[in-house]
Amino acid sequence: MKIAISGKGGVGKTTVTANLSRLFAQNDYQVFAVDADPDANLATALGIPEEDAKELKPLVELEDIIEGKNSGGGSFVSLTPTVDDVLDDYSYKLGNIKFVRMGAAKQGGSECYCKENSFLRSLIESLLIDKKEVVILDMGAGIEHLSRGTAKDVDCLIVIVEPSQVSIETADKVKKMAADLGIPIFKVIANKVYDEEAKDFIVNYFHAEDILGFIPFSQEVITSAMDRKQQDKISQALRPSMKDIYNNLLREAGDK
Ligand SMILES: Nc1ncnc2c1ncn2[C@@H]1O[C@H](COP(=O)(O)OP(=O)(O)OP(=O)(O)O)[C@@H](O)[C@H]1O
Ligand SMILES: [Mg+2]
Repeated sequence: MKIAISGKGGVGKTTVTANLSRLFAQNDYQVFAVDADPDANLATALGIPEEDAKELKPLVELEDIIEGKNSGGGSFVSLTPTVDDVLDDYSYKLGNIKFVRMGAAKQGGSECYCKENSFLRSLIESLLIDKKEVVILDMGAGIEHLSRGTAKDVDCLIVIVEPSQVSIETADKVKKMAADLGIPIFKVIANKVYDEEAKDFIVNYFHAEDILGFIPFSQEVITSAMDRKQQDKISQALRPSMKDIYNNLLREAGDK
């Protein structure tokens, strides 16, 4: 199963990606967790030590190596790698989770992320996935990854929303683009749902079948967010709602 997590800035994409990754890993899936956001903090949310995260080479560098091996003629797509093949040098292992980051943040005004985006696109397209493997992509905020087609080959696009008008407007755009790109499954996760009224706001807006689940607003999450060593506390706080979401996701997309 190949899943992309998207949504407006700050809605909880990274928090959800990290916690879904953990649940899949705890259920004996091999998880390939990809930080596709150049302004990346998935490593923190997974509790990876800062020194290790800093040392991890961005996966985009692999493209140069592959091009070199193929004397400039081949492409990554033709290699049809499996999750296992993705070079150990580029991934950090955390139990059943393999973490990779696509690219590093660049200097302001220096360059675009075209290379990272196109490499990520061919990586998603070409990765061969077994039944007990899952790829989860923490995308950058907004809709660029969709307008560029970066996430076009995922099986399932999940958009995170919070109870705010702007976040559901982004979700609407994401839904439309997912349909244009032919992504088979589109789902919504409502995060930071602070009360019943906030839940009703989401329920009234989306089709019931599009909603994968609701995650309550949690002070514990805010308090622990800054500390890599406190990520287990976040998982504990979010566990009941994340388990429902995980089960619903398996029901909807488990055969992919
Ligand atoms: N259910 C929740 N309750 C309270 N705070 C939350 C919840 N989910 C996420 N947060 C907090 O909201 C902030 C943004 O979360 P996160 O980094 O996961 O969002 P994001 O969508 O990945 O952001 P960005 O667009 O910057 O990548 C963090 O401080 C996080 O701890
Ligand atoms: Mg994020």
